[in-house]
Amino acid sequence: MRVAPVHIMLCCLLAAGSAAAGGRMDLVVFPDGYQEDFTRYLTTNRANGKAQMVHIYANDGALHSADETQPLGQGAILVMEIYKAEENAEGNALKAADGTYKPGKLAAIAVMEKRDWGHRYPAVDRSGHWGFGFYDGAGQPKPNDLDCAGCHNPLTEHDYLFSWSALKDFARNRGD
Ligand code: HEC
Repeated sequence: MRVAPVHIMLCCLLAAGSAAAGGRMDLVVFPDGYQEDFTRYLTTNRANGKAQMVHIYANDGALHSADETQPLGQGAILVMEIYKAEENAEGNALKAADGTYKPGKLAAIAVMEKRDWGHRYPAVDRSGHWGFGFYDGAGQPKPNDLDCAGCHNPLTEHDYLFSWSALKDFARNRGD
């Protein structure tokens, strides 16, 4: 009797981590015109110690809901421009008088948008209702292997935002 060959089925296992951990650019789309329509509330060097600085912008919805201790409302959008520091001829990063690096090349534009995403955006890839998007300096989706939610998730007391206090202070002083 002939023995039928045994076919070993190899299953295609997904690599650990989610493909959407570095943002969902199909849902959190690039906010065209944010430099005119949004308000810049913070300029600071990055916490990662690299010679980089950021400008962070908020749309009106984010600013208006930033007045209290409450989390921001739906429709809030935050945009963070990440700049490499300008360098002198010797390759040293230049700083302004206040200690922030002078902005050189715009390396990336990170976006957070708060919506009731539902099943479209799996909760495991979001921070609460915040979805993520990551773009290059020209506003095109920027492939990356970052785990956005992994870093923002621990900040449950501050609506998952690193710049929560700065945003609240800015909104309060502005009288929103
Ligand atoms: C390694 C940790 C880490 C990862 C990963 C990370 N972030 Fe952040 N994020 C930060 C920190 C720290 C700040 C405060 C600014 C700074 O120091 O860079 C920040 C600030 C932000 C802000 C400004 C609002 C706020 O929270 O203050 C946005 C928008 C943002 N991140 C989006 C993203 C997106 C999109 C991704 C994924 C593509 C991402 N982040 C991945 C640590 C992280």
